[in-house]
Amino acid sequence: MSNGIFITLEGGEGAGKSTQAGRMAERLESLGYAVTRTREPGGSPNAEEIRNLLVNGAPDRWTSTAETLLNYAARDSHLNETIRPALERGEIVICDRFMDSTRAYQGTAGGTDPDLIKTLEEAVIRKTMPDLTLVFDLDPTLGLGRTTKRAQAGEDRFENKPLEFHEKLREAFLDLVKTEPERCVLINAEQDIDKVFDDIWSVVEPRLTK
Ligand code: TMP
Repeated sequence: MSNGIFITLEGGEGAGKSTQAGRMAERLESLGYAVTRTREPGGSPNAEEIRNLLVNGAPDRWTSTAETLLNYAARDSHLNETIRPALERGEIVICDRFMDSTRAYQGTAGGTDPDLIKTLEEAVIRKTMPDLTLVFDLDPTLGLGRTTKRAQAGEDRFENKPLEFHEKLREAFLDLVKTEPERCVLINAEQDIDKVFDDIWSVVEPRLTK
């Protein structure tokens, strides 16, 4: 049985998730919590290899169904090799993207059959659902404007999809907060980074006594 806490960060491109994940990890560690900070796709050696296939290359390189399967192959490894062991050790796991990115990118925006995604969620995630999901919301034109730095590193396959794709993503994430309000909390990522962190902390702190 796991007694750790599983927190995921979700949202469109350039929302500032990585910066905020780092700040959250720092704050938690300064309070004495053991933290595993990880990301998807990736987070284990095998999953990082799959990540390279997903984030590099032409935007139409994979069908959305192939992307779903690759993400779930990576997620299976990540859960078994990184997330579940950390939760079993009682740690707080902070994961930059997880299952809701597949729902939004491959499902709502990409057109993958939602039943396939549901079947994979049940087979791969099983009971390891996030305890808390922070959904970073911002205008996609703002977010895409912030991602130039990473594009230089080459990991820009999804950023190169048309604006319409990114607008659908935003709607998908907003719907998620409406349909799963217990787990998912909306964070206004258009604010100044200190204010974003204050909002995050006001949601995370009360959940630390789990
Ligand atoms: P990152 O930008 O957070 O590093 O994530 C890499 C890209 O992978 C990002 O454009 C979103 C995309 N992605 C999916 O399309 N489906 C998924 O299930 C995950 C985890 C990420």
